[in-house]
Amino acid sequence: MTTIVVNGVKREVQAPTDTPLLYVLRNDLELSGPQFGCGLAQCGACSVLLNGKEVRSCITTLGSVAGKEVTTLEGLPSRWAKQKGLSEADAAKTLHPVQEAWIEEQTPLCGFCQNGMMIKATELLEQTPSPTVAQIKEAFTTSGPSPHLCRCGSYTAIIQAVQRAATTMTKSAKVADARRQGEIDTPQPFGRSLDTATVLRVFPERSIA
Ligand code: FES
Ligand code: FES
Repeated sequence: MTTIVVNGVKREVQAPTDTPLLYVLRNDLELSGPQFGCGLAQCGACSVLLNGKEVRSCITTLGSVAGKEVTTLEGLPSRWAKQKGLSEADAAKTLHPVQEAWIEEQTPLCGFCQNGMMIKATELLEQTPSPTVAQIKEAFTTSGPSPHLCRCGSYTAIIQAVQRAATTMTKSAKVADARRQGEIDTPQPFGRSLDTATVLRVFPERSIA
């Protein structure tokens, strides 16, 4: 039995310690964000964060992650909520800015590679809040064991989505700083809610009724 921490929750796994983490996540823990692409650390579809660093879960063994913090695509909202100090209720209605940017930029085409793209973007923006285009390209090509591959060619949209997420996250950090310093009031948490009732209350013109 191996104990691992996935998306902030301790999980007991019975698989042998040399089992690829990707198999454990998908088959034992039913987390379908990470995808099986090449199985050889050559495409990035299976990426997860391990203690905040992107790793290829297809070549990472279960035994090697014992006691470390694994974050999958499913865990990005709670990761962001924790970083922002949101309540559990607000966290449940929140997406990570990277995920929101991906939606707003309509980045995915077939979508198969996009798990790894969003994981890589999260790693990048946590380390480099306002990356240049060159830094974004470097992150997705030469910073890991291989470039993150997209057979559909969504690379331009990915760069735009990373820039959009960077703007959101930087702005959010500035607001948090201002609140800490008492320059602005702390409002009731509104978060980045996707709750339709709330959206229609605040923006009633969006109702099609
Ligand atoms: S499936 Fe892991 S890098 Fe391709
Ligand atoms: S969106 Fe299809 S492989 Fe990237």
